[in-house]
Amino acid sequence: MKKHIVLLPGDGIGPEIMESAKAVLNTVANEHNHEFIFHEHAIGGDAIDRYNHPLPEETIHACEAADAVLLGAVGGKKWDSNPGHLRPEKGLLGIRKALGLFANLRPIKGFNSLLHASPLKEDIITGSDILIIRELTGGLYFGTPSERRENGNVVVDTLYYERHEIERIIDKAFQSAMQRKKQLTSVDKANVLESSRMWREIVDEKASVYPEVKVEHLLVDAAAMKLITQPNHFDVIVTENLFGDILSDEASVLTGSLGMLPSASVRTDGVGLYEPVHGSAPDIAGKGIANPFGMILSAAMMLRHSFGLEQEAVEIERAVNETLEQGYHTADLQLKDGKLASTKKITDAVIENLTTKSISN
Ligand code: NAD
Ligand code: IPM
Ligand code: MN
Repeated sequence: MKKHIVLLPGDGIGPEIMESAKAVLNTVANEHNHEFIFHEHAIGGDAIDRYNHPLPEETIHACEAADAVLLGAVGGKKWDSNPGHLRPEKGLLGIRKALGLFANLRPIKGFNSLLHASPLKEDIITGSDILIIRELTGGLYFGTPSERRENGNVVVDTLYYERHEIERIIDKAFQSAMQRKKQLTSVDKANVLESSRMWREIVDEKASVYPEVKVEHLLVDAAAMKLITQPNHFDVIVTENLFGDILSDEASVLTGSLGMLPSASVRTDGVGLYEPVHGSAPDIAGKGIANPFGMILSAAMMLRHSFGLEQEAVEIERAVNETLEQGYHTADLQLKDGKLASTKKITDAVIENLTTKSISN
């Protein structure tokens, strides 16, 4: 199989973990006779420095023409006082919008060897397996342009949704629930927000199309609590953009580290973008100690969802599992035992496990 993959390494630890994903994908290509052709492009702070824009036109065109896109992370102190349109984050929001990637799938499933790495009690997290589906191109992130009024003393951010935007993400959530345990939790703030009340109406309408799916509504504050006290309660969670952003970082605690979580940003068909859930981690950037698993697992999601390469995706996930079982981990995973290792060393171990696996198969 021949595929063109756009790489957007971005800022901070982005380029470091992108190296890991690339090396793993090259190994998969060798083992299975695929041809993955990488095209690297600028986004975020890196693009601001080089092109004075967080999302150059050329990057958008390259992504549109690609079979899939892999993104590292954007952002950093250097650009934090820039005006809104010249912030790295604007590049990330821009590429999601330009590609129409309205659904962000964030699976949260811990590895057994990391049960001790979570500050939560082992019996609470054991067996948890959640898919957060976050609406990605609407809500507060994309309302009418934010503004400051009255000498900067009044601010306006707008939460805006059109019915069709809610319908398509709710459909996606029901379809995902049908592939899993058929339980859907819709999270909102319907006791306060009109947008949430429309969200609820649409969930209830769609529920009749998917009678096999058990549906519940939860308010976001209560959902935040239940997520870490009773994670086993959940199967698929669907929620709007900002709530999904916050709840997924919270849910990462179940897995031991934010550095473990992959994600897929997709639309109904066409190009998908795959990115870890975490950010550019400026506090550890440049040290070679970033956790590459979220990025590597995002590459596995790309193989599965964009290329239909299920076996190759499973092999990567197995190699990650074996690497963790062998004790390799970065410092963000607070484990007392095992082998504290660099990004490079962990990547080498994953590759070693991948190749050993293929030979024994
Ligand atoms: P962050 O996710 O970058 O970091 C939060 C904490 O988790 C930090 O202590 C960091 O060291 C740690 N961490 C995150 N990923 C890690 C990894 N792979 N390995 C080891 N430790 C890891 O969030 P933040 O510090 O709030 O934001 C930093 C910058 O990243 C900001 O500019 C923000 O806008 C940006 N950001 C970008 C994305 C993205 O590109 N998708 C996502 C979130 C935040
Ligand atoms: C994420 C990030 C982004 C978001 C930021 C960097 C714009 O936090 O991908 O989770 O809020 O969507
Ligand atoms: Mn986030």
